[in-house]
Amino acid sequence: METTLIILKPDAVQRGLMGRIIGRFEDKGLHIVGCKLMQISSELAATHYDAHKGKPFYEGLVRFMTSSPVLVLAVRGMGAITICRNMMGATFGSKAAPGTIRGDFGVSNSFNLIHGSDSPEAAERELGLFFKPGEVLNSSRAIEGWIYDLSGGKPE
Ligand code: RTP
Ligand code: MG
Repeated sequence: METTLIILKPDAVQRGLMGRIIGRFEDKGLHIVGCKLMQISSELAATHYDAHKGKPFYEGLVRFMTSSPVLVLAVRGMGAITICRNMMGATFGSKAAPGTIRGDFGVSNSFNLIHGSDSPEAAERELGLFFKPGEVLNSSRAIEGWIYDLSGGKPE
């Protein structure tokens, strides 16, 4: 099982889209194992987006991410990192395909609603930045055996 970090960005929270976006992940069969409404500090935004430091959009990105509360989620499932990235769609709302979160809910290239970790290494790093030990739960779901075929001993 993989766990990935998802952030519903300030525009998603302000526009009242939290429930509908979380619903998409739940509908898919992914498991929400961490959830926190928070205001991101400039320091945390800078650490999180360290790889983009120096790029033309960096200053605006940090300003946007710290401008208003975000909802941070830990989302678990087999292949959760890639599944979530595919569900998010292309980076720019203007280019994201219909059926994706960015494609269905936004038109802006800067205000693109959602962040998702892009690799296992990024997921581990980012979950550690936004959640304290113990805040990402190891609870199991009663419905797990209907989400995955567990008859072979591992989820299929
Ligand atoms: P994210 O990290 O937020 O999940 O988005 P991403 O992987 O799809 O895109 P990434 O290349 O990592 O860029 C991070 C965020 O920076 C903003 N951005 N603006 N104006 C621009 O050219 C530009 N490029 C990137 C977006 O908010 C993007 O999500
Ligand atoms: Mg990225």
